[in-house]
Amino acid sequence: MENFLNINIFRTFISGTPLMKVFRKTLLLLVILTVVFQFVQPTKNKSEGISSDDISKVYAMDEELHGMLVTKCYDCHSNNTKYPWYFNVQPIGWWLAAHVHDGKEHLNFSAFGSYSAEKAEHKLEELKEVMEDHSMPLKSYVLFHPETEVTDADIDRVSAWLRSIGAIDE
Ligand code: HEC
Repeated sequence: MENFLNINIFRTFISGTPLMKVFRKTLLLLVILTVVFQFVQPTKNKSEGISSDDISKVYAMDEELHGMLVTKCYDCHSNNTKYPWYFNVQPIGWWLAAHVHDGKEHLNFSAFGSYSAEKAEHKLEELKEVMEDHSMPLKSYVLFHPETEVTDADIDRVSAWLRSIGAIDE
């Protein structure tokens, strides 16, 4: 019975009804596009070592705090992204590259030393805000990297640090 059904589906697929012709052409086009897409690999956001403008070189910061930022934020907010294998699968890689580009434009921890005092101060205030309201890391990112969800301990650590460098009062 099952076999019989499959054969019928197959017959409909190869038969020449107009709808099936359109369906087959669309499928073929999708397959071709998917193959062509793989030849357009986005450039990687990679550099050697820690930048001299890295936030940890600008302010005193313990290893634990810096490690938390590296683990949870640096993929999109630094000059060094750790890429998952699916970065090589297009169009997923293009989508990831767009997030990194966008994230770095708003805040780049590797370039913190090049920010004006006013800009740095503003970014530090935002740092606390986005962690407190859990708007960062991006939801789509946390879904694939659940360990990067910001915890209460992270927020406390960042707040204490911001107070210690005089970036916030309370
Ligand atoms: C998957 C990429 C990604 C990760 C990981 C990520 N961000 Fe972002 N972040 C973005 C993007 C994209 C924007 C800009 C668009 C937006 O606000 O949604 C942004 C914006 C921000 C802004 C706002 C800057 C501004 O000027 O508006 C702050 C602050 C920020 N992120 C902090 C963080 C912190 C802190 C972490 C880690 C706990 C983090 N982000 C992790 C992608 C990311």
